[in-house]
Amino acid sequence: MYGNDFPAPDDASGGGLLGEVEAAEAALREAAARARRFGAPTPDADLDAYFADVIEADQKIEPRDWMPEAYRRTLIRQIAQHAHSEIIGMQPEGNWISRAPSLKRKAILLAKVQDEAGHGLYLYAAAETLGISRDELVDLLLSGRQKYSSIFNYPTLTWADVGVIGWLVDGAAIVNQVPLCRCSYGPYARAMIRVCKEESFHQRQGYEILHVLAHGTAEQKAMAQDAVDRWWYPSLAMFGPPDGDSTHSAQSMAWKIKRFSNDELRQRFVDMCVQQAEVLGLTLPDEDLRWNDERGAYDYTQPDYDELMQVIKGNGPCNRQRMEHRRRAHTDGAWVREAAAAYAAKREQQKEKVAA
Ligand SMILES: [Fe+2]
Ligand SMILES: [Fe+2]
Repeated sequence: MYGNDFPAPDDASGGGLLGEVEAAEAALREAAARARRFGAPTPDADLDAYFADVIEADQKIEPRDWMPEAYRRTLIRQIAQHAHSEIIGMQPEGNWISRAPSLKRKAILLAKVQDEAGHGLYLYAAAETLGISRDELVDLLLSGRQKYSSIFNYPTLTWADVGVIGWLVDGAAIVNQVPLCRCSYGPYARAMIRVCKEESFHQRQGYEILHVLAHGTAEQKAMAQDAVDRWWYPSLAMFGPPDGDSTHSAQSMAWKIKRFSNDELRQRFVDMCVQQAEVLGLTLPDEDLRWNDERGAYDYTQPDYDELMQVIKGNGPCNRQRMEHRRRAHTDGAWVREAAAAYAAKREQQKEKVAA
């Protein structure tokens, strides 16, 4: 079953997320048209005031614009962390490409993992517009000075994990990233629009894998349930520490990099997943999960934030393995980088010769 003859996750959640991406894209175009028609606010002596005006007017900050150093640093950290997550995130699923249960599943998974590499590339390119080089960014990851999402330090034990990663991990990523389509930094916002559209496909493919398993044999259904049980809380932890402990949030909200708090996004994700789990016929592993009429949202058990901090510090089940693999891949790829640089230099020389 590969058609859309099952309720797609974004339909189950009211079709909202992709609609929001489209609206953000329209807003982005409108802001660009406004800047063309009326001109962007003009920088004068007071650069801080100029920057505040651009943010206030919901215009985008572009690489050529002046920006406060702290804004630049925050964006570099966030975009780099995001790029690293896409690249490291290829490992847990890449692990299953050779063991996918059919040729069709293999082709779909291969395309999905390649998309993640593409996301990494858009994001590294967006970070580079802030004045940091790709080499520096890679070095920050390999030396452990910059982090990647904690979720990718958990192992993928069965084929059902590939389904759950698509449904829950890509699903949580979309909930996190849809508001970033309205981020005040132009290159990041534009990259996020494309990324979110692709993430929506990722979520669907995972959901469909689970739907098939959950409606298969008793063993298949049990395998799907076991995967949901293991990934639910780490997925909730993807939204970061609770608002009270989140160090960068308030400033990022004021700069319109972030639009919602960690807890708001986590709640949105829980509310979305409850309905989707019902359609799948799988149970979310939380006995205290129930609708709260007063809040108009589900009450739920928080993930273990001590575990999250431990995984971030490098003590998760697969941190070492992930970093070792990335370092090895980087070393093994040295000849490709050298060959590409030599080829580029040769082309440059030829161009100069023709020009002379
Ligand atoms: Fe991605
Ligand atoms: Fe994805």
